[in-house]
Amino acid sequence: MKQFISVNDVPDINHLVDKALAYKKKPFADNKLGNLKTLGMLFMNPSMRTRISTQIAARNLGMEVIVFNVDKEGWQLEFEEGIVMNGKMAEHVKEAAAVMGEYFDVLSIRTFPGLVNKEEDYSERYIRQFIKYAGIPVVSLESATLHPLQSLTDIITIKENMQSSGDSKPKVVMTWAPHVRALPQSVPNSFAQWINAWKETDLTIVQPKGYELDEKFTNGAAIMYDQNEALQNADFVYVKNWSSYREYGKILNTDPSWMITKEKLKYTHHAKVMHCLPVRRNLVIADEVLDSTQSIVTEEAGNRVWAAQAVLSEILLNQE
Ligand code: CP
Repeated sequence: MKQFISVNDVPDINHLVDKALAYKKKPFADNKLGNLKTLGMLFMNPSMRTRISTQIAARNLGMEVIVFNVDKEGWQLEFEEGIVMNGKMAEHVKEAAAVMGEYFDVLSIRTFPGLVNKEEDYSERYIRQFIKYAGIPVVSLESATLHPLQSLTDIITIKENMQSSGDSKPKVVMTWAPHVRALPQSVPNSFAQWINAWKETDLTIVQPKGYELDEKFTNGAAIMYDQNEALQNADFVYVKNWSSYREYGKILNTDPSWMITKEKLKYTHHAKVMHCLPVRRNLVIADEVLDSTQSIVTEEAGNRVWAAQAVLSEILLNQE
């Protein structure tokens, strides 16, 4: 694998899932693969799970890791081509990314959307420019519109928790839930993109009107607007808030009845409840669910290590 920006970089999802599950059993099986290689981890936004799990994954492969919080510790970066840099931006991405390419063997980076300009966010201009100028493999730690390490993790977690149900595929329901802040569409876009490409489950997406995601990611999923109806017979309930794609970046609905409660799960197949975390308790998911055996959010976050390790391993193998 040359880079890891979306599911389109992955030739075989199940190969990556199986590899991750093998690392979960034997974390140090390839502990020499990354010897004398350095992973750079650049954060333009906060992170807990992605940062720590990827560091552990790299260490398990024998890599050195350097974490750089660009937003807090670096020079402010300019991304505009041909601009006169007489404002507050001190360094152009052309030099910054190229220098990273000199220091590291693999570059990983987290960027976020501004949620103001849809075209700019959906062009992925920040991560694209790092790819263009770094000259080394780039791994997304979440970009403006996608979070592939999270989605690979989610598939690993679903596979681990899938019950054999004859010929029928497990029903996965991704449901919108309320939030007080306008959040990116990256996690739900990416989840839909990966689940659709994986083809081993049936995906339903349920949301209030106005929260439809970009069809480029959701095509193939059933789209519904009645949460109780959508949740019927679900095997997995993937809960997430996102801001509107159509009325870009806006909060259109705060209806608390969309929160996931025990009552809502009554007509599911005792569904497992997933969330990428961080989750706001009793706003997005009720305590009674998060504290129950139906919640697999901690196991899901734990699997971030094995997803990252499988991805880094494939990239290192491609460099040999
Ligand atoms: N799910 C996830 O990416 O968590 P962090 O933002 O803490 O990395």
